[in-house]
Amino acid sequence: MFNSISKCRNTEDFRKLAKKRLPGPIFHYIDGAADDEVTYRRNTESFEQCDLVPNVLAGVEDIDMSTTVMGKKIDMPLYFAPTALQRLFHHDGELAVGKTAQKFGTMFGISSLGTTSIEDIAKHVSTPKLFQLYVHRDKGLTNSMLDRCKDAKFDGLALTVDTIVGGNRERDLLTGFTSPPKLTLNSLISFAMHPNWAFNHFTHSRFELHQIKHWIREGNKISLSIHDYFTKMLDQSMDWKAAEEIRKYWGGEFALKGIMSVEDAKRAIDIGASTIMISNHGGRQLDGSRSPFDQLAEIVDAVGDKIDVICEGGIRRGTHVLKALSLGAKACSGGRMYLYALAAGGQKGVEKAMSNMKNEIERDMKLMGVKNISELSRKNLRFR
Ligand code: GLV
Repeated sequence: MFNSISKCRNTEDFRKLAKKRLPGPIFHYIDGAADDEVTYRRNTESFEQCDLVPNVLAGVEDIDMSTTVMGKKIDMPLYFAPTALQRLFHHDGELAVGKTAQKFGTMFGISSLGTTSIEDIAKHVSTPKLFQLYVHRDKGLTNSMLDRCKDAKFDGLALTVDTIVGGNRERDLLTGFTSPPKLTLNSLISFAMHPNWAFNHFTHSRFELHQIKHWIREGNKISLSIHDYFTKMLDQSMDWKAAEEIRKYWGGEFALKGIMSVEDAKRAIDIGASTIMISNHGGRQLDGSRSPFDQLAEIVDAVGDKIDVICEGGIRRGTHVLKALSLGAKACSGGRMYLYALAAGGQKGVEKAMSNMKNEIERDMKLMGVKNISELSRKNLRFR
């Protein structure tokens, strides 16, 4: 068992540490996915059914792994996908992640269900920032988030399109996980069994959903599971026209997050998106849907010359990033790959996790014989 951040070599080591440090319901909220979690497992397994074919003697002393995402140059082809409720996992939450992104010169996504305000993020984090939008039934709330991001000069907007209702997250049903956590006998027992987490949670500033708290009480004062939050609070009438209107209202770099089909990728271009994130929400929504890596080639072949394609989900290794880039992704992003580390050790954990990934990408590029990520191509890959 790994007891210290410095000994964590990979995501699985951080996962084990997070499991020890977090109350069960919170750990399983991060770790769990929908139904039988088939898609969640496939997200990573799909990378394992494809092999790299390296070239050698390429003079790889100096390599450049930078790329451009949503109009911003970033120093590495991997960034922090926006995720909800981060201060529940560690009291420093989004600031720990944002400051790490800044240190590594990469992009940082903030969720509509974030626990640090848009304004505080803008004040403390100067790296490229992406805001992830959940379109709420309350239009005033949705527009207020867009206005605040415009004022705070966020660099891009990612409209999430795969949460029209909540996924069937059976681990949350079993543990009773809600936001905010309900104080039941079971949750109090799980807090008591994790005194460090409980001490930090209750002695730091209050857990709040800062982007929504002035508009609705659900998720902030009224406890709801994430399934119920999505199903009750998000706008199920969302369609392409509404997405286009949001793009126009926003007026800046615009991405659709959660695109899985070629048809939808083409429609994303029609409504003026500059980027799509191929994603199934970490397997947390529609179990049985394909993995982003499995879907990548057909989407890149259809639209890769007209729109930037990000591969999001299942990334656990530097080689996974190189495989996605070889198929034509502009960059990769992930959630759990840094959330376990955040839970295990705050900013120190996230920095170690990202440094592990960066070292892997650099080492793997050298072993592949490429100095620049643009040298990666399908010639480097074989599917079994
Ligand atoms: C939030 O976005 C979640 O998937 O739980």
